[in-house]
Amino acid sequence: MPPNKSGLNVLSYENDDDLDLLYSFKKRGYRTTPILYVNGKQISPDLARKARPNQTLLSFLRDVLRLTGSKLGCAEGGCGACTVMISRFEKSNTASSNDEGTNDDNDGGAIKHYAVNACLMPVLAADGCHITTVEGVGSVKDDNLHPIQRAMVDMHGSQCGFCTPGIIVAIYSLLANNATTAHMEEHLDGNLCRCTGYRPIWDAARSLCSDIEDVCTNKVHEHMNAEMGVIRGPCGTPCRSCPERDSCEMDCNAKDKENGKTDQKEKSMENGGGAKSAPKENLCCSSSVDKMSSYQSVLPKDSASSWRNQPIDMFPDSLTSAPDSEIGMELFKPLLVVDSTAHGRSTWMKPTTILELLSLLRQYGESDNGCKIIVGNTEVGIETKFKHAVYPCLIYPSQTIDSLYDITITSTHFRLGACTSLGTVQQECERLIGNANVDRIAKPIYNMLRWFASTQIRNVACLGGNLVTASPISDMNPMLVSMNANLVVASISSISEGSITRRIIPVLDFFCSYRTVDLKPYELVECIDVPLTREIFEYVVPFKQARRREDDISIVTSGMRIILAPKESEHYVIEDMTLAFGGMAPTTIVASETASNLIGMPFCAQTFKKGGEILREELKLPDDVPGGQAEYRITVASSFLYQFFLTVATELKMDADKIQMDPIKYGISIPLPPLPLVEEEEMSGTQQFVSSKKPSSLGMQTYPTPKVVEGIEKKISPTPATAALQTSSNSLGKPLPHASAPFHCTGEAIYVDDIPTPPSTLHAFLLLATECDVTLKSINKEAALKIPGVVDVYTHDDLVKLGGENAIGPIMHDECVFLPVGEKIVSVGQVLGIVIGNSIEISEIGARSVKVEYGEKQVQTIVSIDDAIKAGSFYEFARHTLERGDVDSVFCSSDNKEEEKEPLSMQPRERVVKVEGSFRCGGQEHFYLETNTTLVIPSEAATNLTIYCSTQAPTKTQTYCASSTNTPASKVVVRMKRMGGGFGGKETRSIFASCAAAVAAKLVNKPVKLTLDRNVDMSTTGGRHSFVVEYRASAIATEEGEFKLHSLDAKLFSNAGCAFDLSGPVMDRALFHIDNCYFWPNFRAVGVPCKTVQPPHTAFRGFGGPQGLSACEHVIEHLALACGIHGDVLRRQSLYELGQSTPFGMTFGEQASGKWNVPRMWDELYEKLNISSRREAIDAFNKQNKWKKRGLAFIPTKFGIAFTAKFMNQGGALVHLYTDGTVLVTHGGTEMGQGLHTKVCQIAAHAFGIPLADVYVNDSSTDKVANTIPTAASQSTDLYGMATLDACRQILMRLEPIRQQMGPDASLSDLATKGFFERIDLSAHGFYAIDASRCGFNWDAPLPDDYPCDLPPNSHKGQPFNYFTQGVACTEVEIDVLSGNHRTIQADLLVDLGASLNPMIDIGQIEGAFIQGMGWSTMEEVIYADDDHAWIRPRGKVFTTGPGTYKIPAFNDVPETFNVSLLEDTENPFAVHSGKAVGEPPFFLGACVFFAIQEAIQAFRVQNGDANYFEMRMPATSERIRMMCADEFVVESIRSQKRDISPDNKALEEVIKKFQPKGSY
Ligand SMILES: Cc1cc2nc3c(=O)[nH]c(=O)nc-3n(C[C@H](O)[C@H](O)[C@H](O)COP(=O)(O)OP(=O)(O)OC[C@H]3O[C@@H](n4cnc5c(N)ncnc54)[C@H](O)[C@@H]3O)c2cc1C
Ligand code: FES
Ligand code: FES
Repeated sequence: MPPNKSGLNVLSYENDDDLDLLYSFKKRGYRTTPILYVNGKQISPDLARKARPNQTLLSFLRDVLRLTGSKLGCAEGGCGACTVMISRFEKSNTASSNDEGTNDDNDGGAIKHYAVNACLMPVLAADGCHITTVEGVGSVKDDNLHPIQRAMVDMHGSQCGFCTPGIIVAIYSLLANNATTAHMEEHLDGNLCRCTGYRPIWDAARSLCSDIEDVCTNKVHEHMNAEMGVIRGPCGTPCRSCPERDSCEMDCNAKDKENGKTDQKEKSMENGGGAKSAPKENLCCSSSVDKMSSYQSVLPKDSASSWRNQPIDMFPDSLTSAPDSEIGMELFKPLLVVDSTAHGRSTWMKPTTILELLSLLRQYGESDNGCKIIVGNTEVGIETKFKHAVYPCLIYPSQTIDSLYDITITSTHFRLGACTSLGTVQQECERLIGNANVDRIAKPIYNMLRWFASTQIRNVACLGGNLVTASPISDMNPMLVSMNANLVVASISSISEGSITRRIIPVLDFFCSYRTVDLKPYELVECIDVPLTREIFEYVVPFKQARRREDDISIVTSGMRIILAPKESEHYVIEDMTLAFGGMAPTTIVASETASNLIGMPFCAQTFKKGGEILREELKLPDDVPGGQAEYRITVASSFLYQFFLTVATELKMDADKIQMDPIKYGISIPLPPLPLVEEEEMSGTQQFVSSKKPSSLGMQTYPTPKVVEGIEKKISPTPATAALQTSSNSLGKPLPHASAPFHCTGEAIYVDDIPTPPSTLHAFLLLATECDVTLKSINKEAALKIPGVVDVYTHDDLVKLGGENAIGPIMHDECVFLPVGEKIVSVGQVLGIVIGNSIEISEIGARSVKVEYGEKQVQTIVSIDDAIKAGSFYEFARHTLERGDVDSVFCSSDNKEEEKEPLSMQPRERVVKVEGSFRCGGQEHFYLETNTTLVIPSEAATNLTIYCSTQAPTKTQTYCASSTNTPASKVVVRMKRMGGGFGGKETRSIFASCAAAVAAKLVNKPVKLTLDRNVDMSTTGGRHSFVVEYRASAIATEEGEFKLHSLDAKLFSNAGCAFDLSGPVMDRALFHIDNCYFWPNFRAVGVPCKTVQPPHTAFRGFGGPQGLSACEHVIEHLALACGIHGDVLRRQSLYELGQSTPFGMTFGEQASGKWNVPRMWDELYEKLNISSRREAIDAFNKQNKWKKRGLAFIPTKFGIAFTAKFMNQGGALVHLYTDGTVLVTHGGTEMGQGLHTKVCQIAAHAFGIPLADVYVNDSSTDKVANTIPTAASQSTDLYGMATLDACRQILMRLEPIRQQMGPDASLSDLATKGFFERIDLSAHGFYAIDASRCGFNWDAPLPDDYPCDLPPNSHKGQPFNYFTQGVACTEVEIDVLSGNHRTIQADLLVDLGASLNPMIDIGQIEGAFIQGMGWSTMEEVIYADDDHAWIRPRGKVFTTGPGTYKIPAFNDVPETFNVSLLEDTENPFAVHSGKAVGEPPFFLGACVFFAIQEAIQAFRVQNGDANYFEMRMPATSERIRMMCADEFVVESIRSQKRDISPDNKALEEVIKKFQPKGSY
């Protein structure tokens, strides 16, 4: 075999005479060019030949075809940003002919549509398929949006828009298959959105489903009962309060106008008849149901069928007419593609018959480089991308090989072709449920597959792939083992012989050891045979427990099968049993000892209790087991066994009933033995999510009728008369869609990675440290430089040659661009250099080839806060204390309890209640869908740099890129159009990557693009700080039984990581928020960031606030329990009252902090939700359900708005008015999905009195608005909105004389044109800085001698906040005790946003923040290699580096009822147009879910006899929920794991009592 140009062994079809391989191919002739169709057009052979064997479909679409709508979010199939639709003409492979949702032609073939992950699918696997990308769905051009794109725009389904193209295509694919709402709810499991909170996407997606009208009709009754005001409008605008109502011609409005009249009539009748209160006219409400049903009425009727038929209409005829057509004949030939480019390491072969396939395996299976079958590539793709496996020869079995794809039922078996997609298996099993022969197999397989990966993965991945991968946590393997399934393995002995040998092997025997199977390299798994079960008394049940329900690999998975037999009239006896587990050993295992002990025993609870004991012993795990969670895994496995008993008991009853009805049919004599005794409340243990319907989410959004209210602008300058030009086109205050939404939805929105690059552009990959706490001894680039396509490797020495400054960092400058040799590596993932090459793949290979030598490790690496406290590793200079009153009056400073004093202020018969404890909350990964990307273009001999960068901080990027490249800042321009999410993660942590790229670009004098892979981004950029808070707190009980908070004494430690970044201000904000909304007369909070080896942690939505607020709520819960009252009572009694002040000296009252609305909001929502009766219902539910518990939490929040550093509270804007009357605004803020540009445009449009469409914000650029501060702290609209208004007003003032001349009817265009001829400057720079008295806090300010004693303590240090955004939230959850799962049944939020500038954008921010806060507090767990996770190496490394290991909330996690309201009758004189900042404040309300979970756990513990306080740490993962329930399963599992401690030893009881699941803090 000749070596190819890259020096690797591949096949060469140019000289095929030498190749035995082509023996079979040559017989029939073969193709060397794939046949690809994209968006209705065939790809020309020239372009198609560019498709490489090891290239993903996404790379081909983006890099070769320049279709950049599909995005790269993770490259591991975990986010869905890359989703495209594959349509293929297929003959039916299924057991029978029902093909609902497909388009059968006369031959039985049909066009089938599948959503797939283009980041995993090899481009050559799309040979013979039609690919639809988002560009093929619809376009902004010619107003050609597809209804689903229109629905997403109208219903506010996009924010940053990076996930949107993938979601659009996922929905489009489901609609192409005639999805019902139930299908939609089942299958949106492969897409993540980090911004929206999903609810609006649900609304848009369901609104086009075939059954939506029926669904809405059913829901409408329920909806009409709600006490609601004005409704309707898919645009989100409530028709009855819309100023454009009269001119609006939307059908929904026409109907509503009609309904309005009727309603009016009815209302007057109601009023006349003394009926209940009328709807509130000043509130606008839009519900999911309203939007969905009204959307039906605005769909263009005449084109309704055309959009439904679009996927078929676009499908090329030439692909349906196979095999007669020319293309059809070609498609039936095998395909052989050999890569001859610099990437070339691979050959692709697509055999079309089983003999061809087996010949190839026989020929190449045992060759040096081997060959690899790939089907879905969902495993191999991950191995090549992340484990760097190299497979030079790939074999892709064609769909024409029937035995690999068929599903058949014989008299003894259910046979599944090994390459049939899991999606097809799932569909087929769903269809076969109820079929007497296979029901008991089809149902468990179907149920398991519903939770297996995602729709996109299941659409391509196959069962054979799952088995051959032999993952210890495979979901299907335990199931198949329990069902006694067999594999049929095929091979041929020689390529010339051609006779196929088949051997049968039981699935269990197939797994030899960790990821090793009994399969020779020349063998093929042809199919899987599952024996049919008995019609009665045989039961198979699947179990799965993961971190997240949807699209997550298992922690523990299991398939359990049992055969029962009636033993005379006594009882049922266990005749046979298989208990197979995944996640409990290096391979799928069978608990044979447990099973053999149970076989022959009576089928009853007692037997299974005994079984649990044996199982725990049999499945013992080592303490440092890879994957961790040893105790949890044992607990879950034994809980599964008990759930199995309960489930089978239920099914047995059904069988018994059937037999009673017809004993002859079943050949069983009656009477049957009595059924095992199971108490009613135990039965709640049978309901697992695996077999339940996926919940759907509906919501109601309510906000005050839009109106324009003057805010801070009133104080600053008068409104010029010109502003009152055309008020009828006023857009301010309206719920308008995000300005970029149409572009998001069509994939036409440009992100940095989508910018067409100059032809000479090089691609970069960072060289990262793989160790830490060791010296960097040397970097050897030699091997990398030898790789064809690698251009250079730059390190610190090269930066020095440029004269660049290596030190960077926002406050302390304690980071560096490239670590110099000889210095200590402070973090795994620290940047050592940058490799540039012709493609990102080549640069990555280059980076892996650089030889880095490390010194010896001398010290114990400090990873966690506990490590840092032990070692005294603090950023000591940032230690701050906020103090007032006399905390020590309650708590002595020493730990000696004897010395504790009673509070000085106590009345004679008052009693003090004290608590002491600690609270921990974990970190959080930003998981913006777009990773950090920078494109640096040098010009003029590299003296100038233009940097396109996804950053929240263009000026900081400019400053550091200038200093690191030794270029004057005036010659560095940073431009930012939009980011695919930021959340604080791109405030400072994008900068090191831009600096590295800038240094490379300047050195090589060519454009350099650096896009961080998801795993690199997650390993290097840091996230939210984890916190440990130690506290003591007290309340005073009065004689009347009331309680008042008295003291809080808290020590806060944050894990800041290896560099300071923004950790000081983050800690400060935690200190400023640990009071939450409660008056603590005596208060002391001391905070210090800890120095560890984690990457520098940074800003993240809430900026330390949520950590402080959560700690406060934890303390309140603890205190309430100690006081013997409900937390709600203590909370409500302790809310700040007017005149009281915060520990930092802000007094509640109109002047200082604005209106204090929290008490009012608390009372309103409490009453509206009827909390007392909800709690009664919860109590009743909890009594009836032993293993399911509900909890409800109600919490308030206030969030301070302003940067605490005074200088940062400023913003600039540049406004140009053009003579056609349109306006271009550039301001210092950046758009990351939060709708800033939209709101700024609304402000400018309002100022000029022009339609919103006439105002445009292009990008943020340091050459237009300079010296900007990062877009952060939620207050960008306050700053840039006001700066823009300032600029608009300046222009208007200049035009005022012309307005006087031309009169009130002159248009802005007339005024501008005349102004231009009169040489009036139509451009203005606006500026706004928050009043100096309303921002900035100087921790070190000394107390002036003459400080008035009536002023609140600490107010002499300044006022950190301009005002507070306030809110309250109530959530209700249900936990499943036996697994640890939870679901959020309902969430209701009421938020004070003043006079909202755009209510639907604001509600979008609230929903998104809530879901992000819910994710942080419940499921998102960042894991480091620390003491608790010794199985990860090296110490200090982050383990959670992608969607596979780190779980953000998915579609299925949204509250099932999700209602958001904006407070009425409120305003804010301290911000532009009286609005309030919204981005961060609602984040903490998401933690309400955590507190509801805590309450549910408490309910279970109380039922179990333990009403004491327990320390619930954040996040409330399924592990923590399960283990904190501390029932007998948990206790026995811990006991069985702690074998080193004697069971009689008291120490063991102590260990059990104090047990906490492991965590990284
Ligand atoms: C995002 C994501 C989520 C996932 N979630 C889950 C999950 O929830 N549960 C779970 O169990 N797994 C999960 N997986 C793992 C993976 O999807 C499965 O293992 C899948 O079934 C593999 O099938 P495939 O067709 O993609 O295999 P490929 O990647 O194409 O191949 C995998 C291996 O199987 C071999 N192979 C395939 N077919 C045959 C055959 N007929 N004969 C011989 N060898 C063959 C290949 O040579 C290769 O070694 C997930 C993967 C991803 C990327
Ligand atoms: S990029 Fe393909 S799933 Fe994330
Ligand atoms: S809009 Fe979904 S990730 Fe931003």
